[in-house]
Amino acid sequence: MTFCFAQAQQTAPAVTAQPAAHPAASLINGYQPVWWKEAVVYQIYPRSFQDSNGDGIGDLNGITQHLDYLQKLGVNVIWLSPHYDSPNADNGYDIRDYRKVMSEFGTMADFDRMLAAIKTRHMRLIVDLVVNHSSDEHHWFAESRSSKENPYRDYYFWRDGRPNPADPAHPLPPNNYPSYFSGSAWQYDATTQQFYLHLFAAKQPDLNWDNAKVREDVYSLMRFWLDKGVDGFRMDVIPLISKQPGLPDLTAEQMKDPSRIWANGPHRDEYLQQMNREVLSKYDAMTVGEALGITLPEQTQIVNSERHELNMIFNFDAVRLNRGANYTARPWTLPELKAIYDSHARVLGKADWDTVFLSNHDNSRLVSNWGDDSTPEFRTRSAKLLETMLLTLRGTPFLYQGDELGMTNYPFTRFDQFDDIEVKNLYKATVLTGQMPEAQFVAETQRFGRDNARTPMQWSGAPNAGFAPAAAKPWLAVNPNYTAINAAQELADPESIYHYTQRAIALHHAHLALVYGDYQDLDPTHLQVYVYTRTLTEPGKPDQRFLVVLNYGQKPVEYTLPGGIKAGKLLLANIPGTTEAGATLHLAAWEARVYSY
Ligand code: GLC
Ligand code: CA
Repeated sequence: MTFCFAQAQQTAPAVTAQPAAHPAASLINGYQPVWWKEAVVYQIYPRSFQDSNGDGIGDLNGITQHLDYLQKLGVNVIWLSPHYDSPNADNGYDIRDYRKVMSEFGTMADFDRMLAAIKTRHMRLIVDLVVNHSSDEHHWFAESRSSKENPYRDYYFWRDGRPNPADPAHPLPPNNYPSYFSGSAWQYDATTQQFYLHLFAAKQPDLNWDNAKVREDVYSLMRFWLDKGVDGFRMDVIPLISKQPGLPDLTAEQMKDPSRIWANGPHRDEYLQQMNREVLSKYDAMTVGEALGITLPEQTQIVNSERHELNMIFNFDAVRLNRGANYTARPWTLPELKAIYDSHARVLGKADWDTVFLSNHDNSRLVSNWGDDSTPEFRTRSAKLLETMLLTLRGTPFLYQGDELGMTNYPFTRFDQFDDIEVKNLYKATVLTGQMPEAQFVAETQRFGRDNARTPMQWSGAPNAGFAPAAAKPWLAVNPNYTAINAAQELADPESIYHYTQRAIALHHAHLALVYGDYQDLDPTHLQVYVYTRTLTEPGKPDQRFLVVLNYGQKPVEYTLPGGIKAGKLLLANIPGTTEAGATLHLAAWEARVYSY
């Protein structure tokens, strides 16, 4: 069944090859207008959003309770991190049954109710599609590992080990691939005395997309969810689906960034085009691929609409600008960040589309990572500055739960406070092997570890931050700052980050220039001020011109706009009472303004 809902502008036929919100003839600034280009997406990590039944784990009914909150915020697409049956080796990114709801999250009836309630509110839902790998508890894998002759054997990558002269009873892995979660990407399985490939955890065996039956099974489960009425997919590590023929060793050079090799297998585009032809083209679906290992020039191969693959991808250039290997910090400058957004504007053309994001469930908190949580005032202001940026840059913005409240990193001080498998495996590989002192490991993980983003949503000052009933024990500790940072308090304060984000989202929705307009960085080398324009010229209409001015730091600055530009009407400002206009602006710490000009 496909839901039909009454949002005049965005209603599209249920089955159409080239869905468009506006007639095909009327390009906007050369872009084909489509609802997902105009959307503001909000990511929900269900485990941490709202526990409705007191087991300390967020669930689908919890999400349904908060849909009004999201609707009022103004987001119109929800991306739900995996909600499928899973043993939770990687919090649902290891799927045991693609057609079943994780029992901790509820039932299929709860899912249907949630989806209907989303549609009633004129919002849409995309779900996570995790098909580079399954869980080792999926019945495909149970069959596959049972014998070499099993019909499912070829659903995964099984290989003989290499001889181990030092210890002949324990063969070495078939090649030198490292796992993203530390150690070898191969796991020995005693039943058939072969190894299987897992680029992530050992409980996440990689599916063999070169097997046509695997592809058919994936397309079929995609149809299952689309027929239910979901509006598309966020596709987990999707470029990794085509493996290198023969799985040769990585060279020393390739070993520096294996993703580059893994993401560029020979059949990647062929498989995505087949998926598009067989499934996506038959629905009005939105697709966004998580594109680990894809460079900007390669991005167009996947997102260019002529190629019929995916609508857009998450490119990691910006979000990982401040990271070195693992959880190490990399010093960065504002001009470097600007250069990334500038290159995207130059390289991606009218038939491509981009995403804008600086946080998700795999990265630390937006404000702690990119802003300044050193004082309440700077936290509030820099969180607003970041939301301003995300909602005025070029591309569909993706916001992560809690960032609209300015939630911060967790003050982790000990290894046993972490839950994440990535952290645990890295600890084994570095601290337990004596390569890194524990204190350094904890400090780096506190800064960049994924659990920072996964602590429970802070709904109120009540015990457990209102995430779970007082008597419950949340699966991951609530940030102790919840008494000061929470939704109830922010909903009551018109100057809160929540209400500011709401205004920024409304501005984004109100002006197509912020969607389809050209982007120009006015001062690419300035070390502290990020100033850019978004301009939309449409025949027969006055130009729509927006000027965004961001003071990226604690130092106040007097700034004269280049090129004789004068700031005009102030549309959004993160310091209440600001009225300044004209050519020279006096910006306070972390001040953000959006003008027309
Ligand atoms: C993606 C997910 C991440 C997960 C990994 C393996 O990067 O975002 O959370 O651990 O894929 O599925
Ligand atoms: Ca629950």
